Amino acid sequence: MIIVHHAGWHAFMEAIVTHELTKHYAAVTAVNKVSLRVMPGEVFGLLGPNGAGKTTFIKMLATLTTPSSGDAVVCGHRITQDRDAVRRCIGMVFQDPALDDRLTGRENLDFHARMYGMKRDDRMKRLTDVLELVGLAEKADVLVKQYSGGMKRRLEIARGLMHFPKVLFLDEPTLGLDPQTRYHIWEYIRQLNAREAVTVILTTHYMEEADALCSRIGIIDYGTVITVDTPAVLKNSIGHDIVTIEATHAELLRAALEKEPWIQSVTVSDSTIVAQVREAEQKVARAVFCAQEVGAQVRSITVRKPSLEDVFLHYTGKRLRDDALDIREQRRGGHP
Ligand SMILES: Nc1ncnc2c1ncn2[C@@H]1O[C@H](COP(=O)(O)OP(=O)(O)OP(=O)(O)O)[C@@H](O)[C@H]1O
Ligand SMILES: [Mg+2]
Repeated sequence: MIIVHHAGWHAFMEAIVTHELTKHYAAVTAVNKVSLRVMPGEVFGLLGPNGAGKTTFIKMLATLTTPSSGDAVVCGHRITQDRDAVRRCIGMVFQDPALDDRLTGRENLDFHARMYGMKRDDRMKRLTDVLELVGLAEKADVLVKQYSGGMKRRLEIARGLMHFPKVLFLDEPTLGLDPQTRYHIWEYIRQLNAREAVTVILTTHYMEEADALCSRIGIIDYGTVITVDTPAVLKNSIGHDIVTIEATHAELLRAALEKEPWIQSVTVSDSTIVAQVREAEQKVARAVFCAQEVGAQVRSITVRKPSLEDVFLHYTGKRLRDDALDIREQRRGGHP
């Protein structure tokens, strides 16, 4: 595809272009000068830890909160100037559930579609299609009160799709759901992206989710997008493999490995040694030899390619998961 940028950062081909988009809350800079482009049909993921600025970023794009500075174009409309036009072409599913559980699934969707001024026949047809898409056709006339957490999330996604949006924002679509329900939701997202050519912007702190689902990923930390690329390129960009060794005398072994020229870095916690190594397959024997030399007994040794977790660690110097996140997930209490 040939992209012609007629006027600087303004969008003509792109689904989304942001230009130094920034949001301050008092002393906190939630989003810091983020400039990026998302092409139509992409599933773009923002991956980052608790408080990184993910929700704030997509809330600005969805015109739910105004930027402190910078601007963005969504489906050709500027978020700071044409809020109504932006809202007509987007769908959104945000973290706080907004379903009415005294109504059925069908009634919730119908209510939403009326707000968008859809005609009755269009509503009925679309209802059937989106309920089908998220696998809820059989539950359409059940009260939402009786839905499980996973079913509610699927209904929220269906609702976000009712008015044929070009761009769908999903804020942590699988937060708090069990793995199986999560996989199902990934499948629904893939299908709607393929069938309806919807551009999807999602946030997540699950690296597996970003890896499995996204055409490109932006890694965000402290409001700054540190790097953007495809999952494969991000993982390859680290340029080394990860060797994990379970052994006795781990500290001695670490000291020995550190002296080896082929080891790029090595850390130890309890009896686990994690080393970054180029072409690791060829170095396993040498690592075992080092262990013998210092009298360490190796219980296991594994070699793997970098994951997005390693990418995150590489770029930010910290791990993606933290305890606060787990507590929040428990509070949300999403049942499958
Ligand atoms: N309405 C608000 N008022 C004040 N500070 C806010 C507000 N909303 C967000 N923040 C702050 O902005 C920063 C980014 O928050 P944001 O919710 O965008 O992060 P997030 O990446 O979505 O985090 P999470 O993974 O917890 O959802 C945080 O430091 C947060 O405390
Ligand atoms: Mg958030």
